[in-house]
Amino acid sequence: MALNNVNILVAVTGGIAAYKCPEVIRRLTEYGASIQVVMTESAREFVKPLVFQAVSGNAVHVDLLDDQAEAGMGHIELARWADVVLIVPATANTLARMACGVADDLLSTICLATRSPVIVAPAMNSVMWEHPATQANLKTLQSRGIILLAPEAGSQACGETGIGRLMEPEKIVESLKQMACDGGQLTMKHVAQSTDSSLLKGVKVLLTAGPTREAIDPVRFISNHSSGKMGFALARAATDAGAEVTLIAGPVKLETPGGVKRIDVSSALQMHEIALSIAGECDIFISVAAVADYRVDEIKAQKIKKTGDDMTLTLIRNPDILADVASMETKPFCVGFAAETENLDAYARGKLQKKNLDMIVGNLVGVQSSGFNSDTNAVDVFWGSSGHVAYSSRSKESLATDLITLIASRYGERH
Ligand code: PMT
Repeated sequence: MALNNVNILVAVTGGIAAYKCPEVIRRLTEYGASIQVVMTESAREFVKPLVFQAVSGNAVHVDLLDDQAEAGMGHIELARWADVVLIVPATANTLARMACGVADDLLSTICLATRSPVIVAPAMNSVMWEHPATQANLKTLQSRGIILLAPEAGSQACGETGIGRLMEPEKIVESLKQMACDGGQLTMKHVAQSTDSSLLKGVKVLLTAGPTREAIDPVRFISNHSSGKMGFALARAATDAGAEVTLIAGPVKLETPGGVKRIDVSSALQMHEIALSIAGECDIFISVAAVADYRVDEIKAQKIKKTGDDMTLTLIRNPDILADVASMETKPFCVGFAAETENLDAYARGKLQKKNLDMIVGNLVGVQSSGFNSDTNAVDVFWGSSGHVAYSSRSKESLATDLITLIASRYGERH
């Protein structure tokens, strides 16, 4: 069985989603995992410890000072016992306490005392989730290696709609099953997140991805370092979310994700023509491509010969594909990207306004492990006058899942 001999310490904190946790435990035990449960004081207001004792087959741990523990130090024994600590649901308060390193109850001391991977599955009101304090705490936790099973979009117990619902129990369990087993040591680097397949059901999504090539003569061109990885990952995530996806790709060496309709182009003018001809029939346009802002005024028919020490090329502006789509009479929900090397917030927000976009994904480039051609990426997303979510560095596939969830949520609010 996938989780045979894996010791999972399940920590329950005080949110309404605590009622879903027994289902997570039941499924984990079905795959062979051994479970111990820790409950915070407020979690016990939502579900009785007896329920968790019944599904885990073990007495529930609630006290920091435990006279049943061999050396009276229950937190150390549990921290050593656990191959993995799974906090489900993790409240905003729990994330904040973990980020600060608070150690005044059983769970918080275990989090400091364990050397094993810690996974958090947050659940909270969507405004609390999006609050800069919560996002900053998450960023801190992720920078320390804590693994996030991101909450999903949908209707919430508080009556709001947005991101904050606990990831569905079967998905949490699937994520744990995908733990890589490396020489007997559990590593959680490969925990996959999947998109809810009904999030964008029936929605038509158009994306651009990759670089453009601006020919100078038959053998030379102007281009950039875009690999297409970010755009292709988004196309895949949008398809997984149930969307009908068309991907206009510049010259890249990537396989087309299953179910995606791909149209290959080379220059910005070609990308512009195709995008404008399709965008009117689409619901969402995501402009990930690194489109050349300029092209040479005249492409030479023959290879240019060396004639002197320098050479002058005259460049003229390319049309702005995204701005032109966003100014269409019946425009789709428009999501832009902004690749910046400095002043990310100000420049990205400037483009959001100037191009009349619904959202913009600010991408710091020219740094390690982010932006062009990297397998990982970290971005800041902006919308409206103050909307902002930061996503710390993660694989482009995982980021794409998070971005599609956010885009679907904001698109859903509009429609
Ligand atoms: O492809 P990868 O190697 O995975 O790298 C990903 C990425 C770094 C290319 C991607 O995350 C990214 O940031 N894409 C936007 C790159 C860019 O050209 O940014 P910009 O700030 O110059 O353009 C702003 C927006 O306008 C972008 O959405 C761009 O697609 C769009 N644009 C720009 C110029 C133009 N003529 N037409 C456009 O549509």
